Amino acid sequence: MLRLETVTEENFKEIPGYCKKCLYWQTTDADKKKPENQTEMTKQKWLLRVQKALGTSGYIAYADAMLVGFVQLALPKHFPRLKEYKNATPSEDAVFLACLYIPQKENQNKGYGTQILKSVITKLKQRGFKAIETFARKSSSENPSGPLGFYLRNGFRIRHDGSDFPLVRLELA
Ligand SMILES: CC(C)(COP(=O)(O)OP(=O)(O)OC[C@H]1O[C@@H](n2cnc3c(N)ncnc32)[C@H](O)[C@@H]1OP(=O)(O)O)[C@@H](O)C(=O)NCCC(=O)NCCS
Repeated sequence: MLRLETVTEENFKEIPGYCKKCLYWQTTDADKKKPENQTEMTKQKWLLRVQKALGTSGYIAYADAMLVGFVQLALPKHFPRLKEYKNATPSEDAVFLACLYIPQKENQNKGYGTQILKSVITKLKQRGFKAIETFARKSSSENPSGPLGFYLRNGFRIRHDGSDFPLVRLELA
């Protein structure tokens, strides 16, 4: 059975390797060279601070005892990188899904990603959020939140097209 655990100080160390120190969405090109923007501590602080302010920031997904996925999400204003996305800007009324990742290849295409997305959607609905948006990728699944086909199958609609990374949206209300 799949369960999502909110990231806490205690379970932070379980986040899949690279995701633990990936600060792509939390930084801009201007500040990516600063050493403090490459540390796990910075990522942990961001996750805990946004969790406290918004009630959601990151989840670790387990299927029984096995870790199968990691998700990070917050409002667009919490992700400085989005300022650099000039062509399509996620809406302020939507939660931005920055990443949904199943790290082990052998766990992909077994339905975990779909279950995680559905659980996240249920949580966001319960909390009264209006919509969820992400940049999906047309040409490949190598993308922080995965391929376009995955989101279209799960009810998302394209809100802004024009590149390999269309902005997709699902209304929650
Ligand atoms: C994308 C991802 C989140 C999907 O989760 P998953 O558990 O593998 O997906 P599920 O088994 O729940 O669902 C798979 C569905 O998506 C579809 N899908 C998967 N990859 C696809 C692609 N490239 N294009 C279109 N559809 C795709 C499958 O066909 C399947 O649809 P179906 O159920 O109708 O057959 C996961 O595979 C993943 O994290 N992949 C790695 C992506 C990556 O490289 N990320 C880089 C991180 S920076």
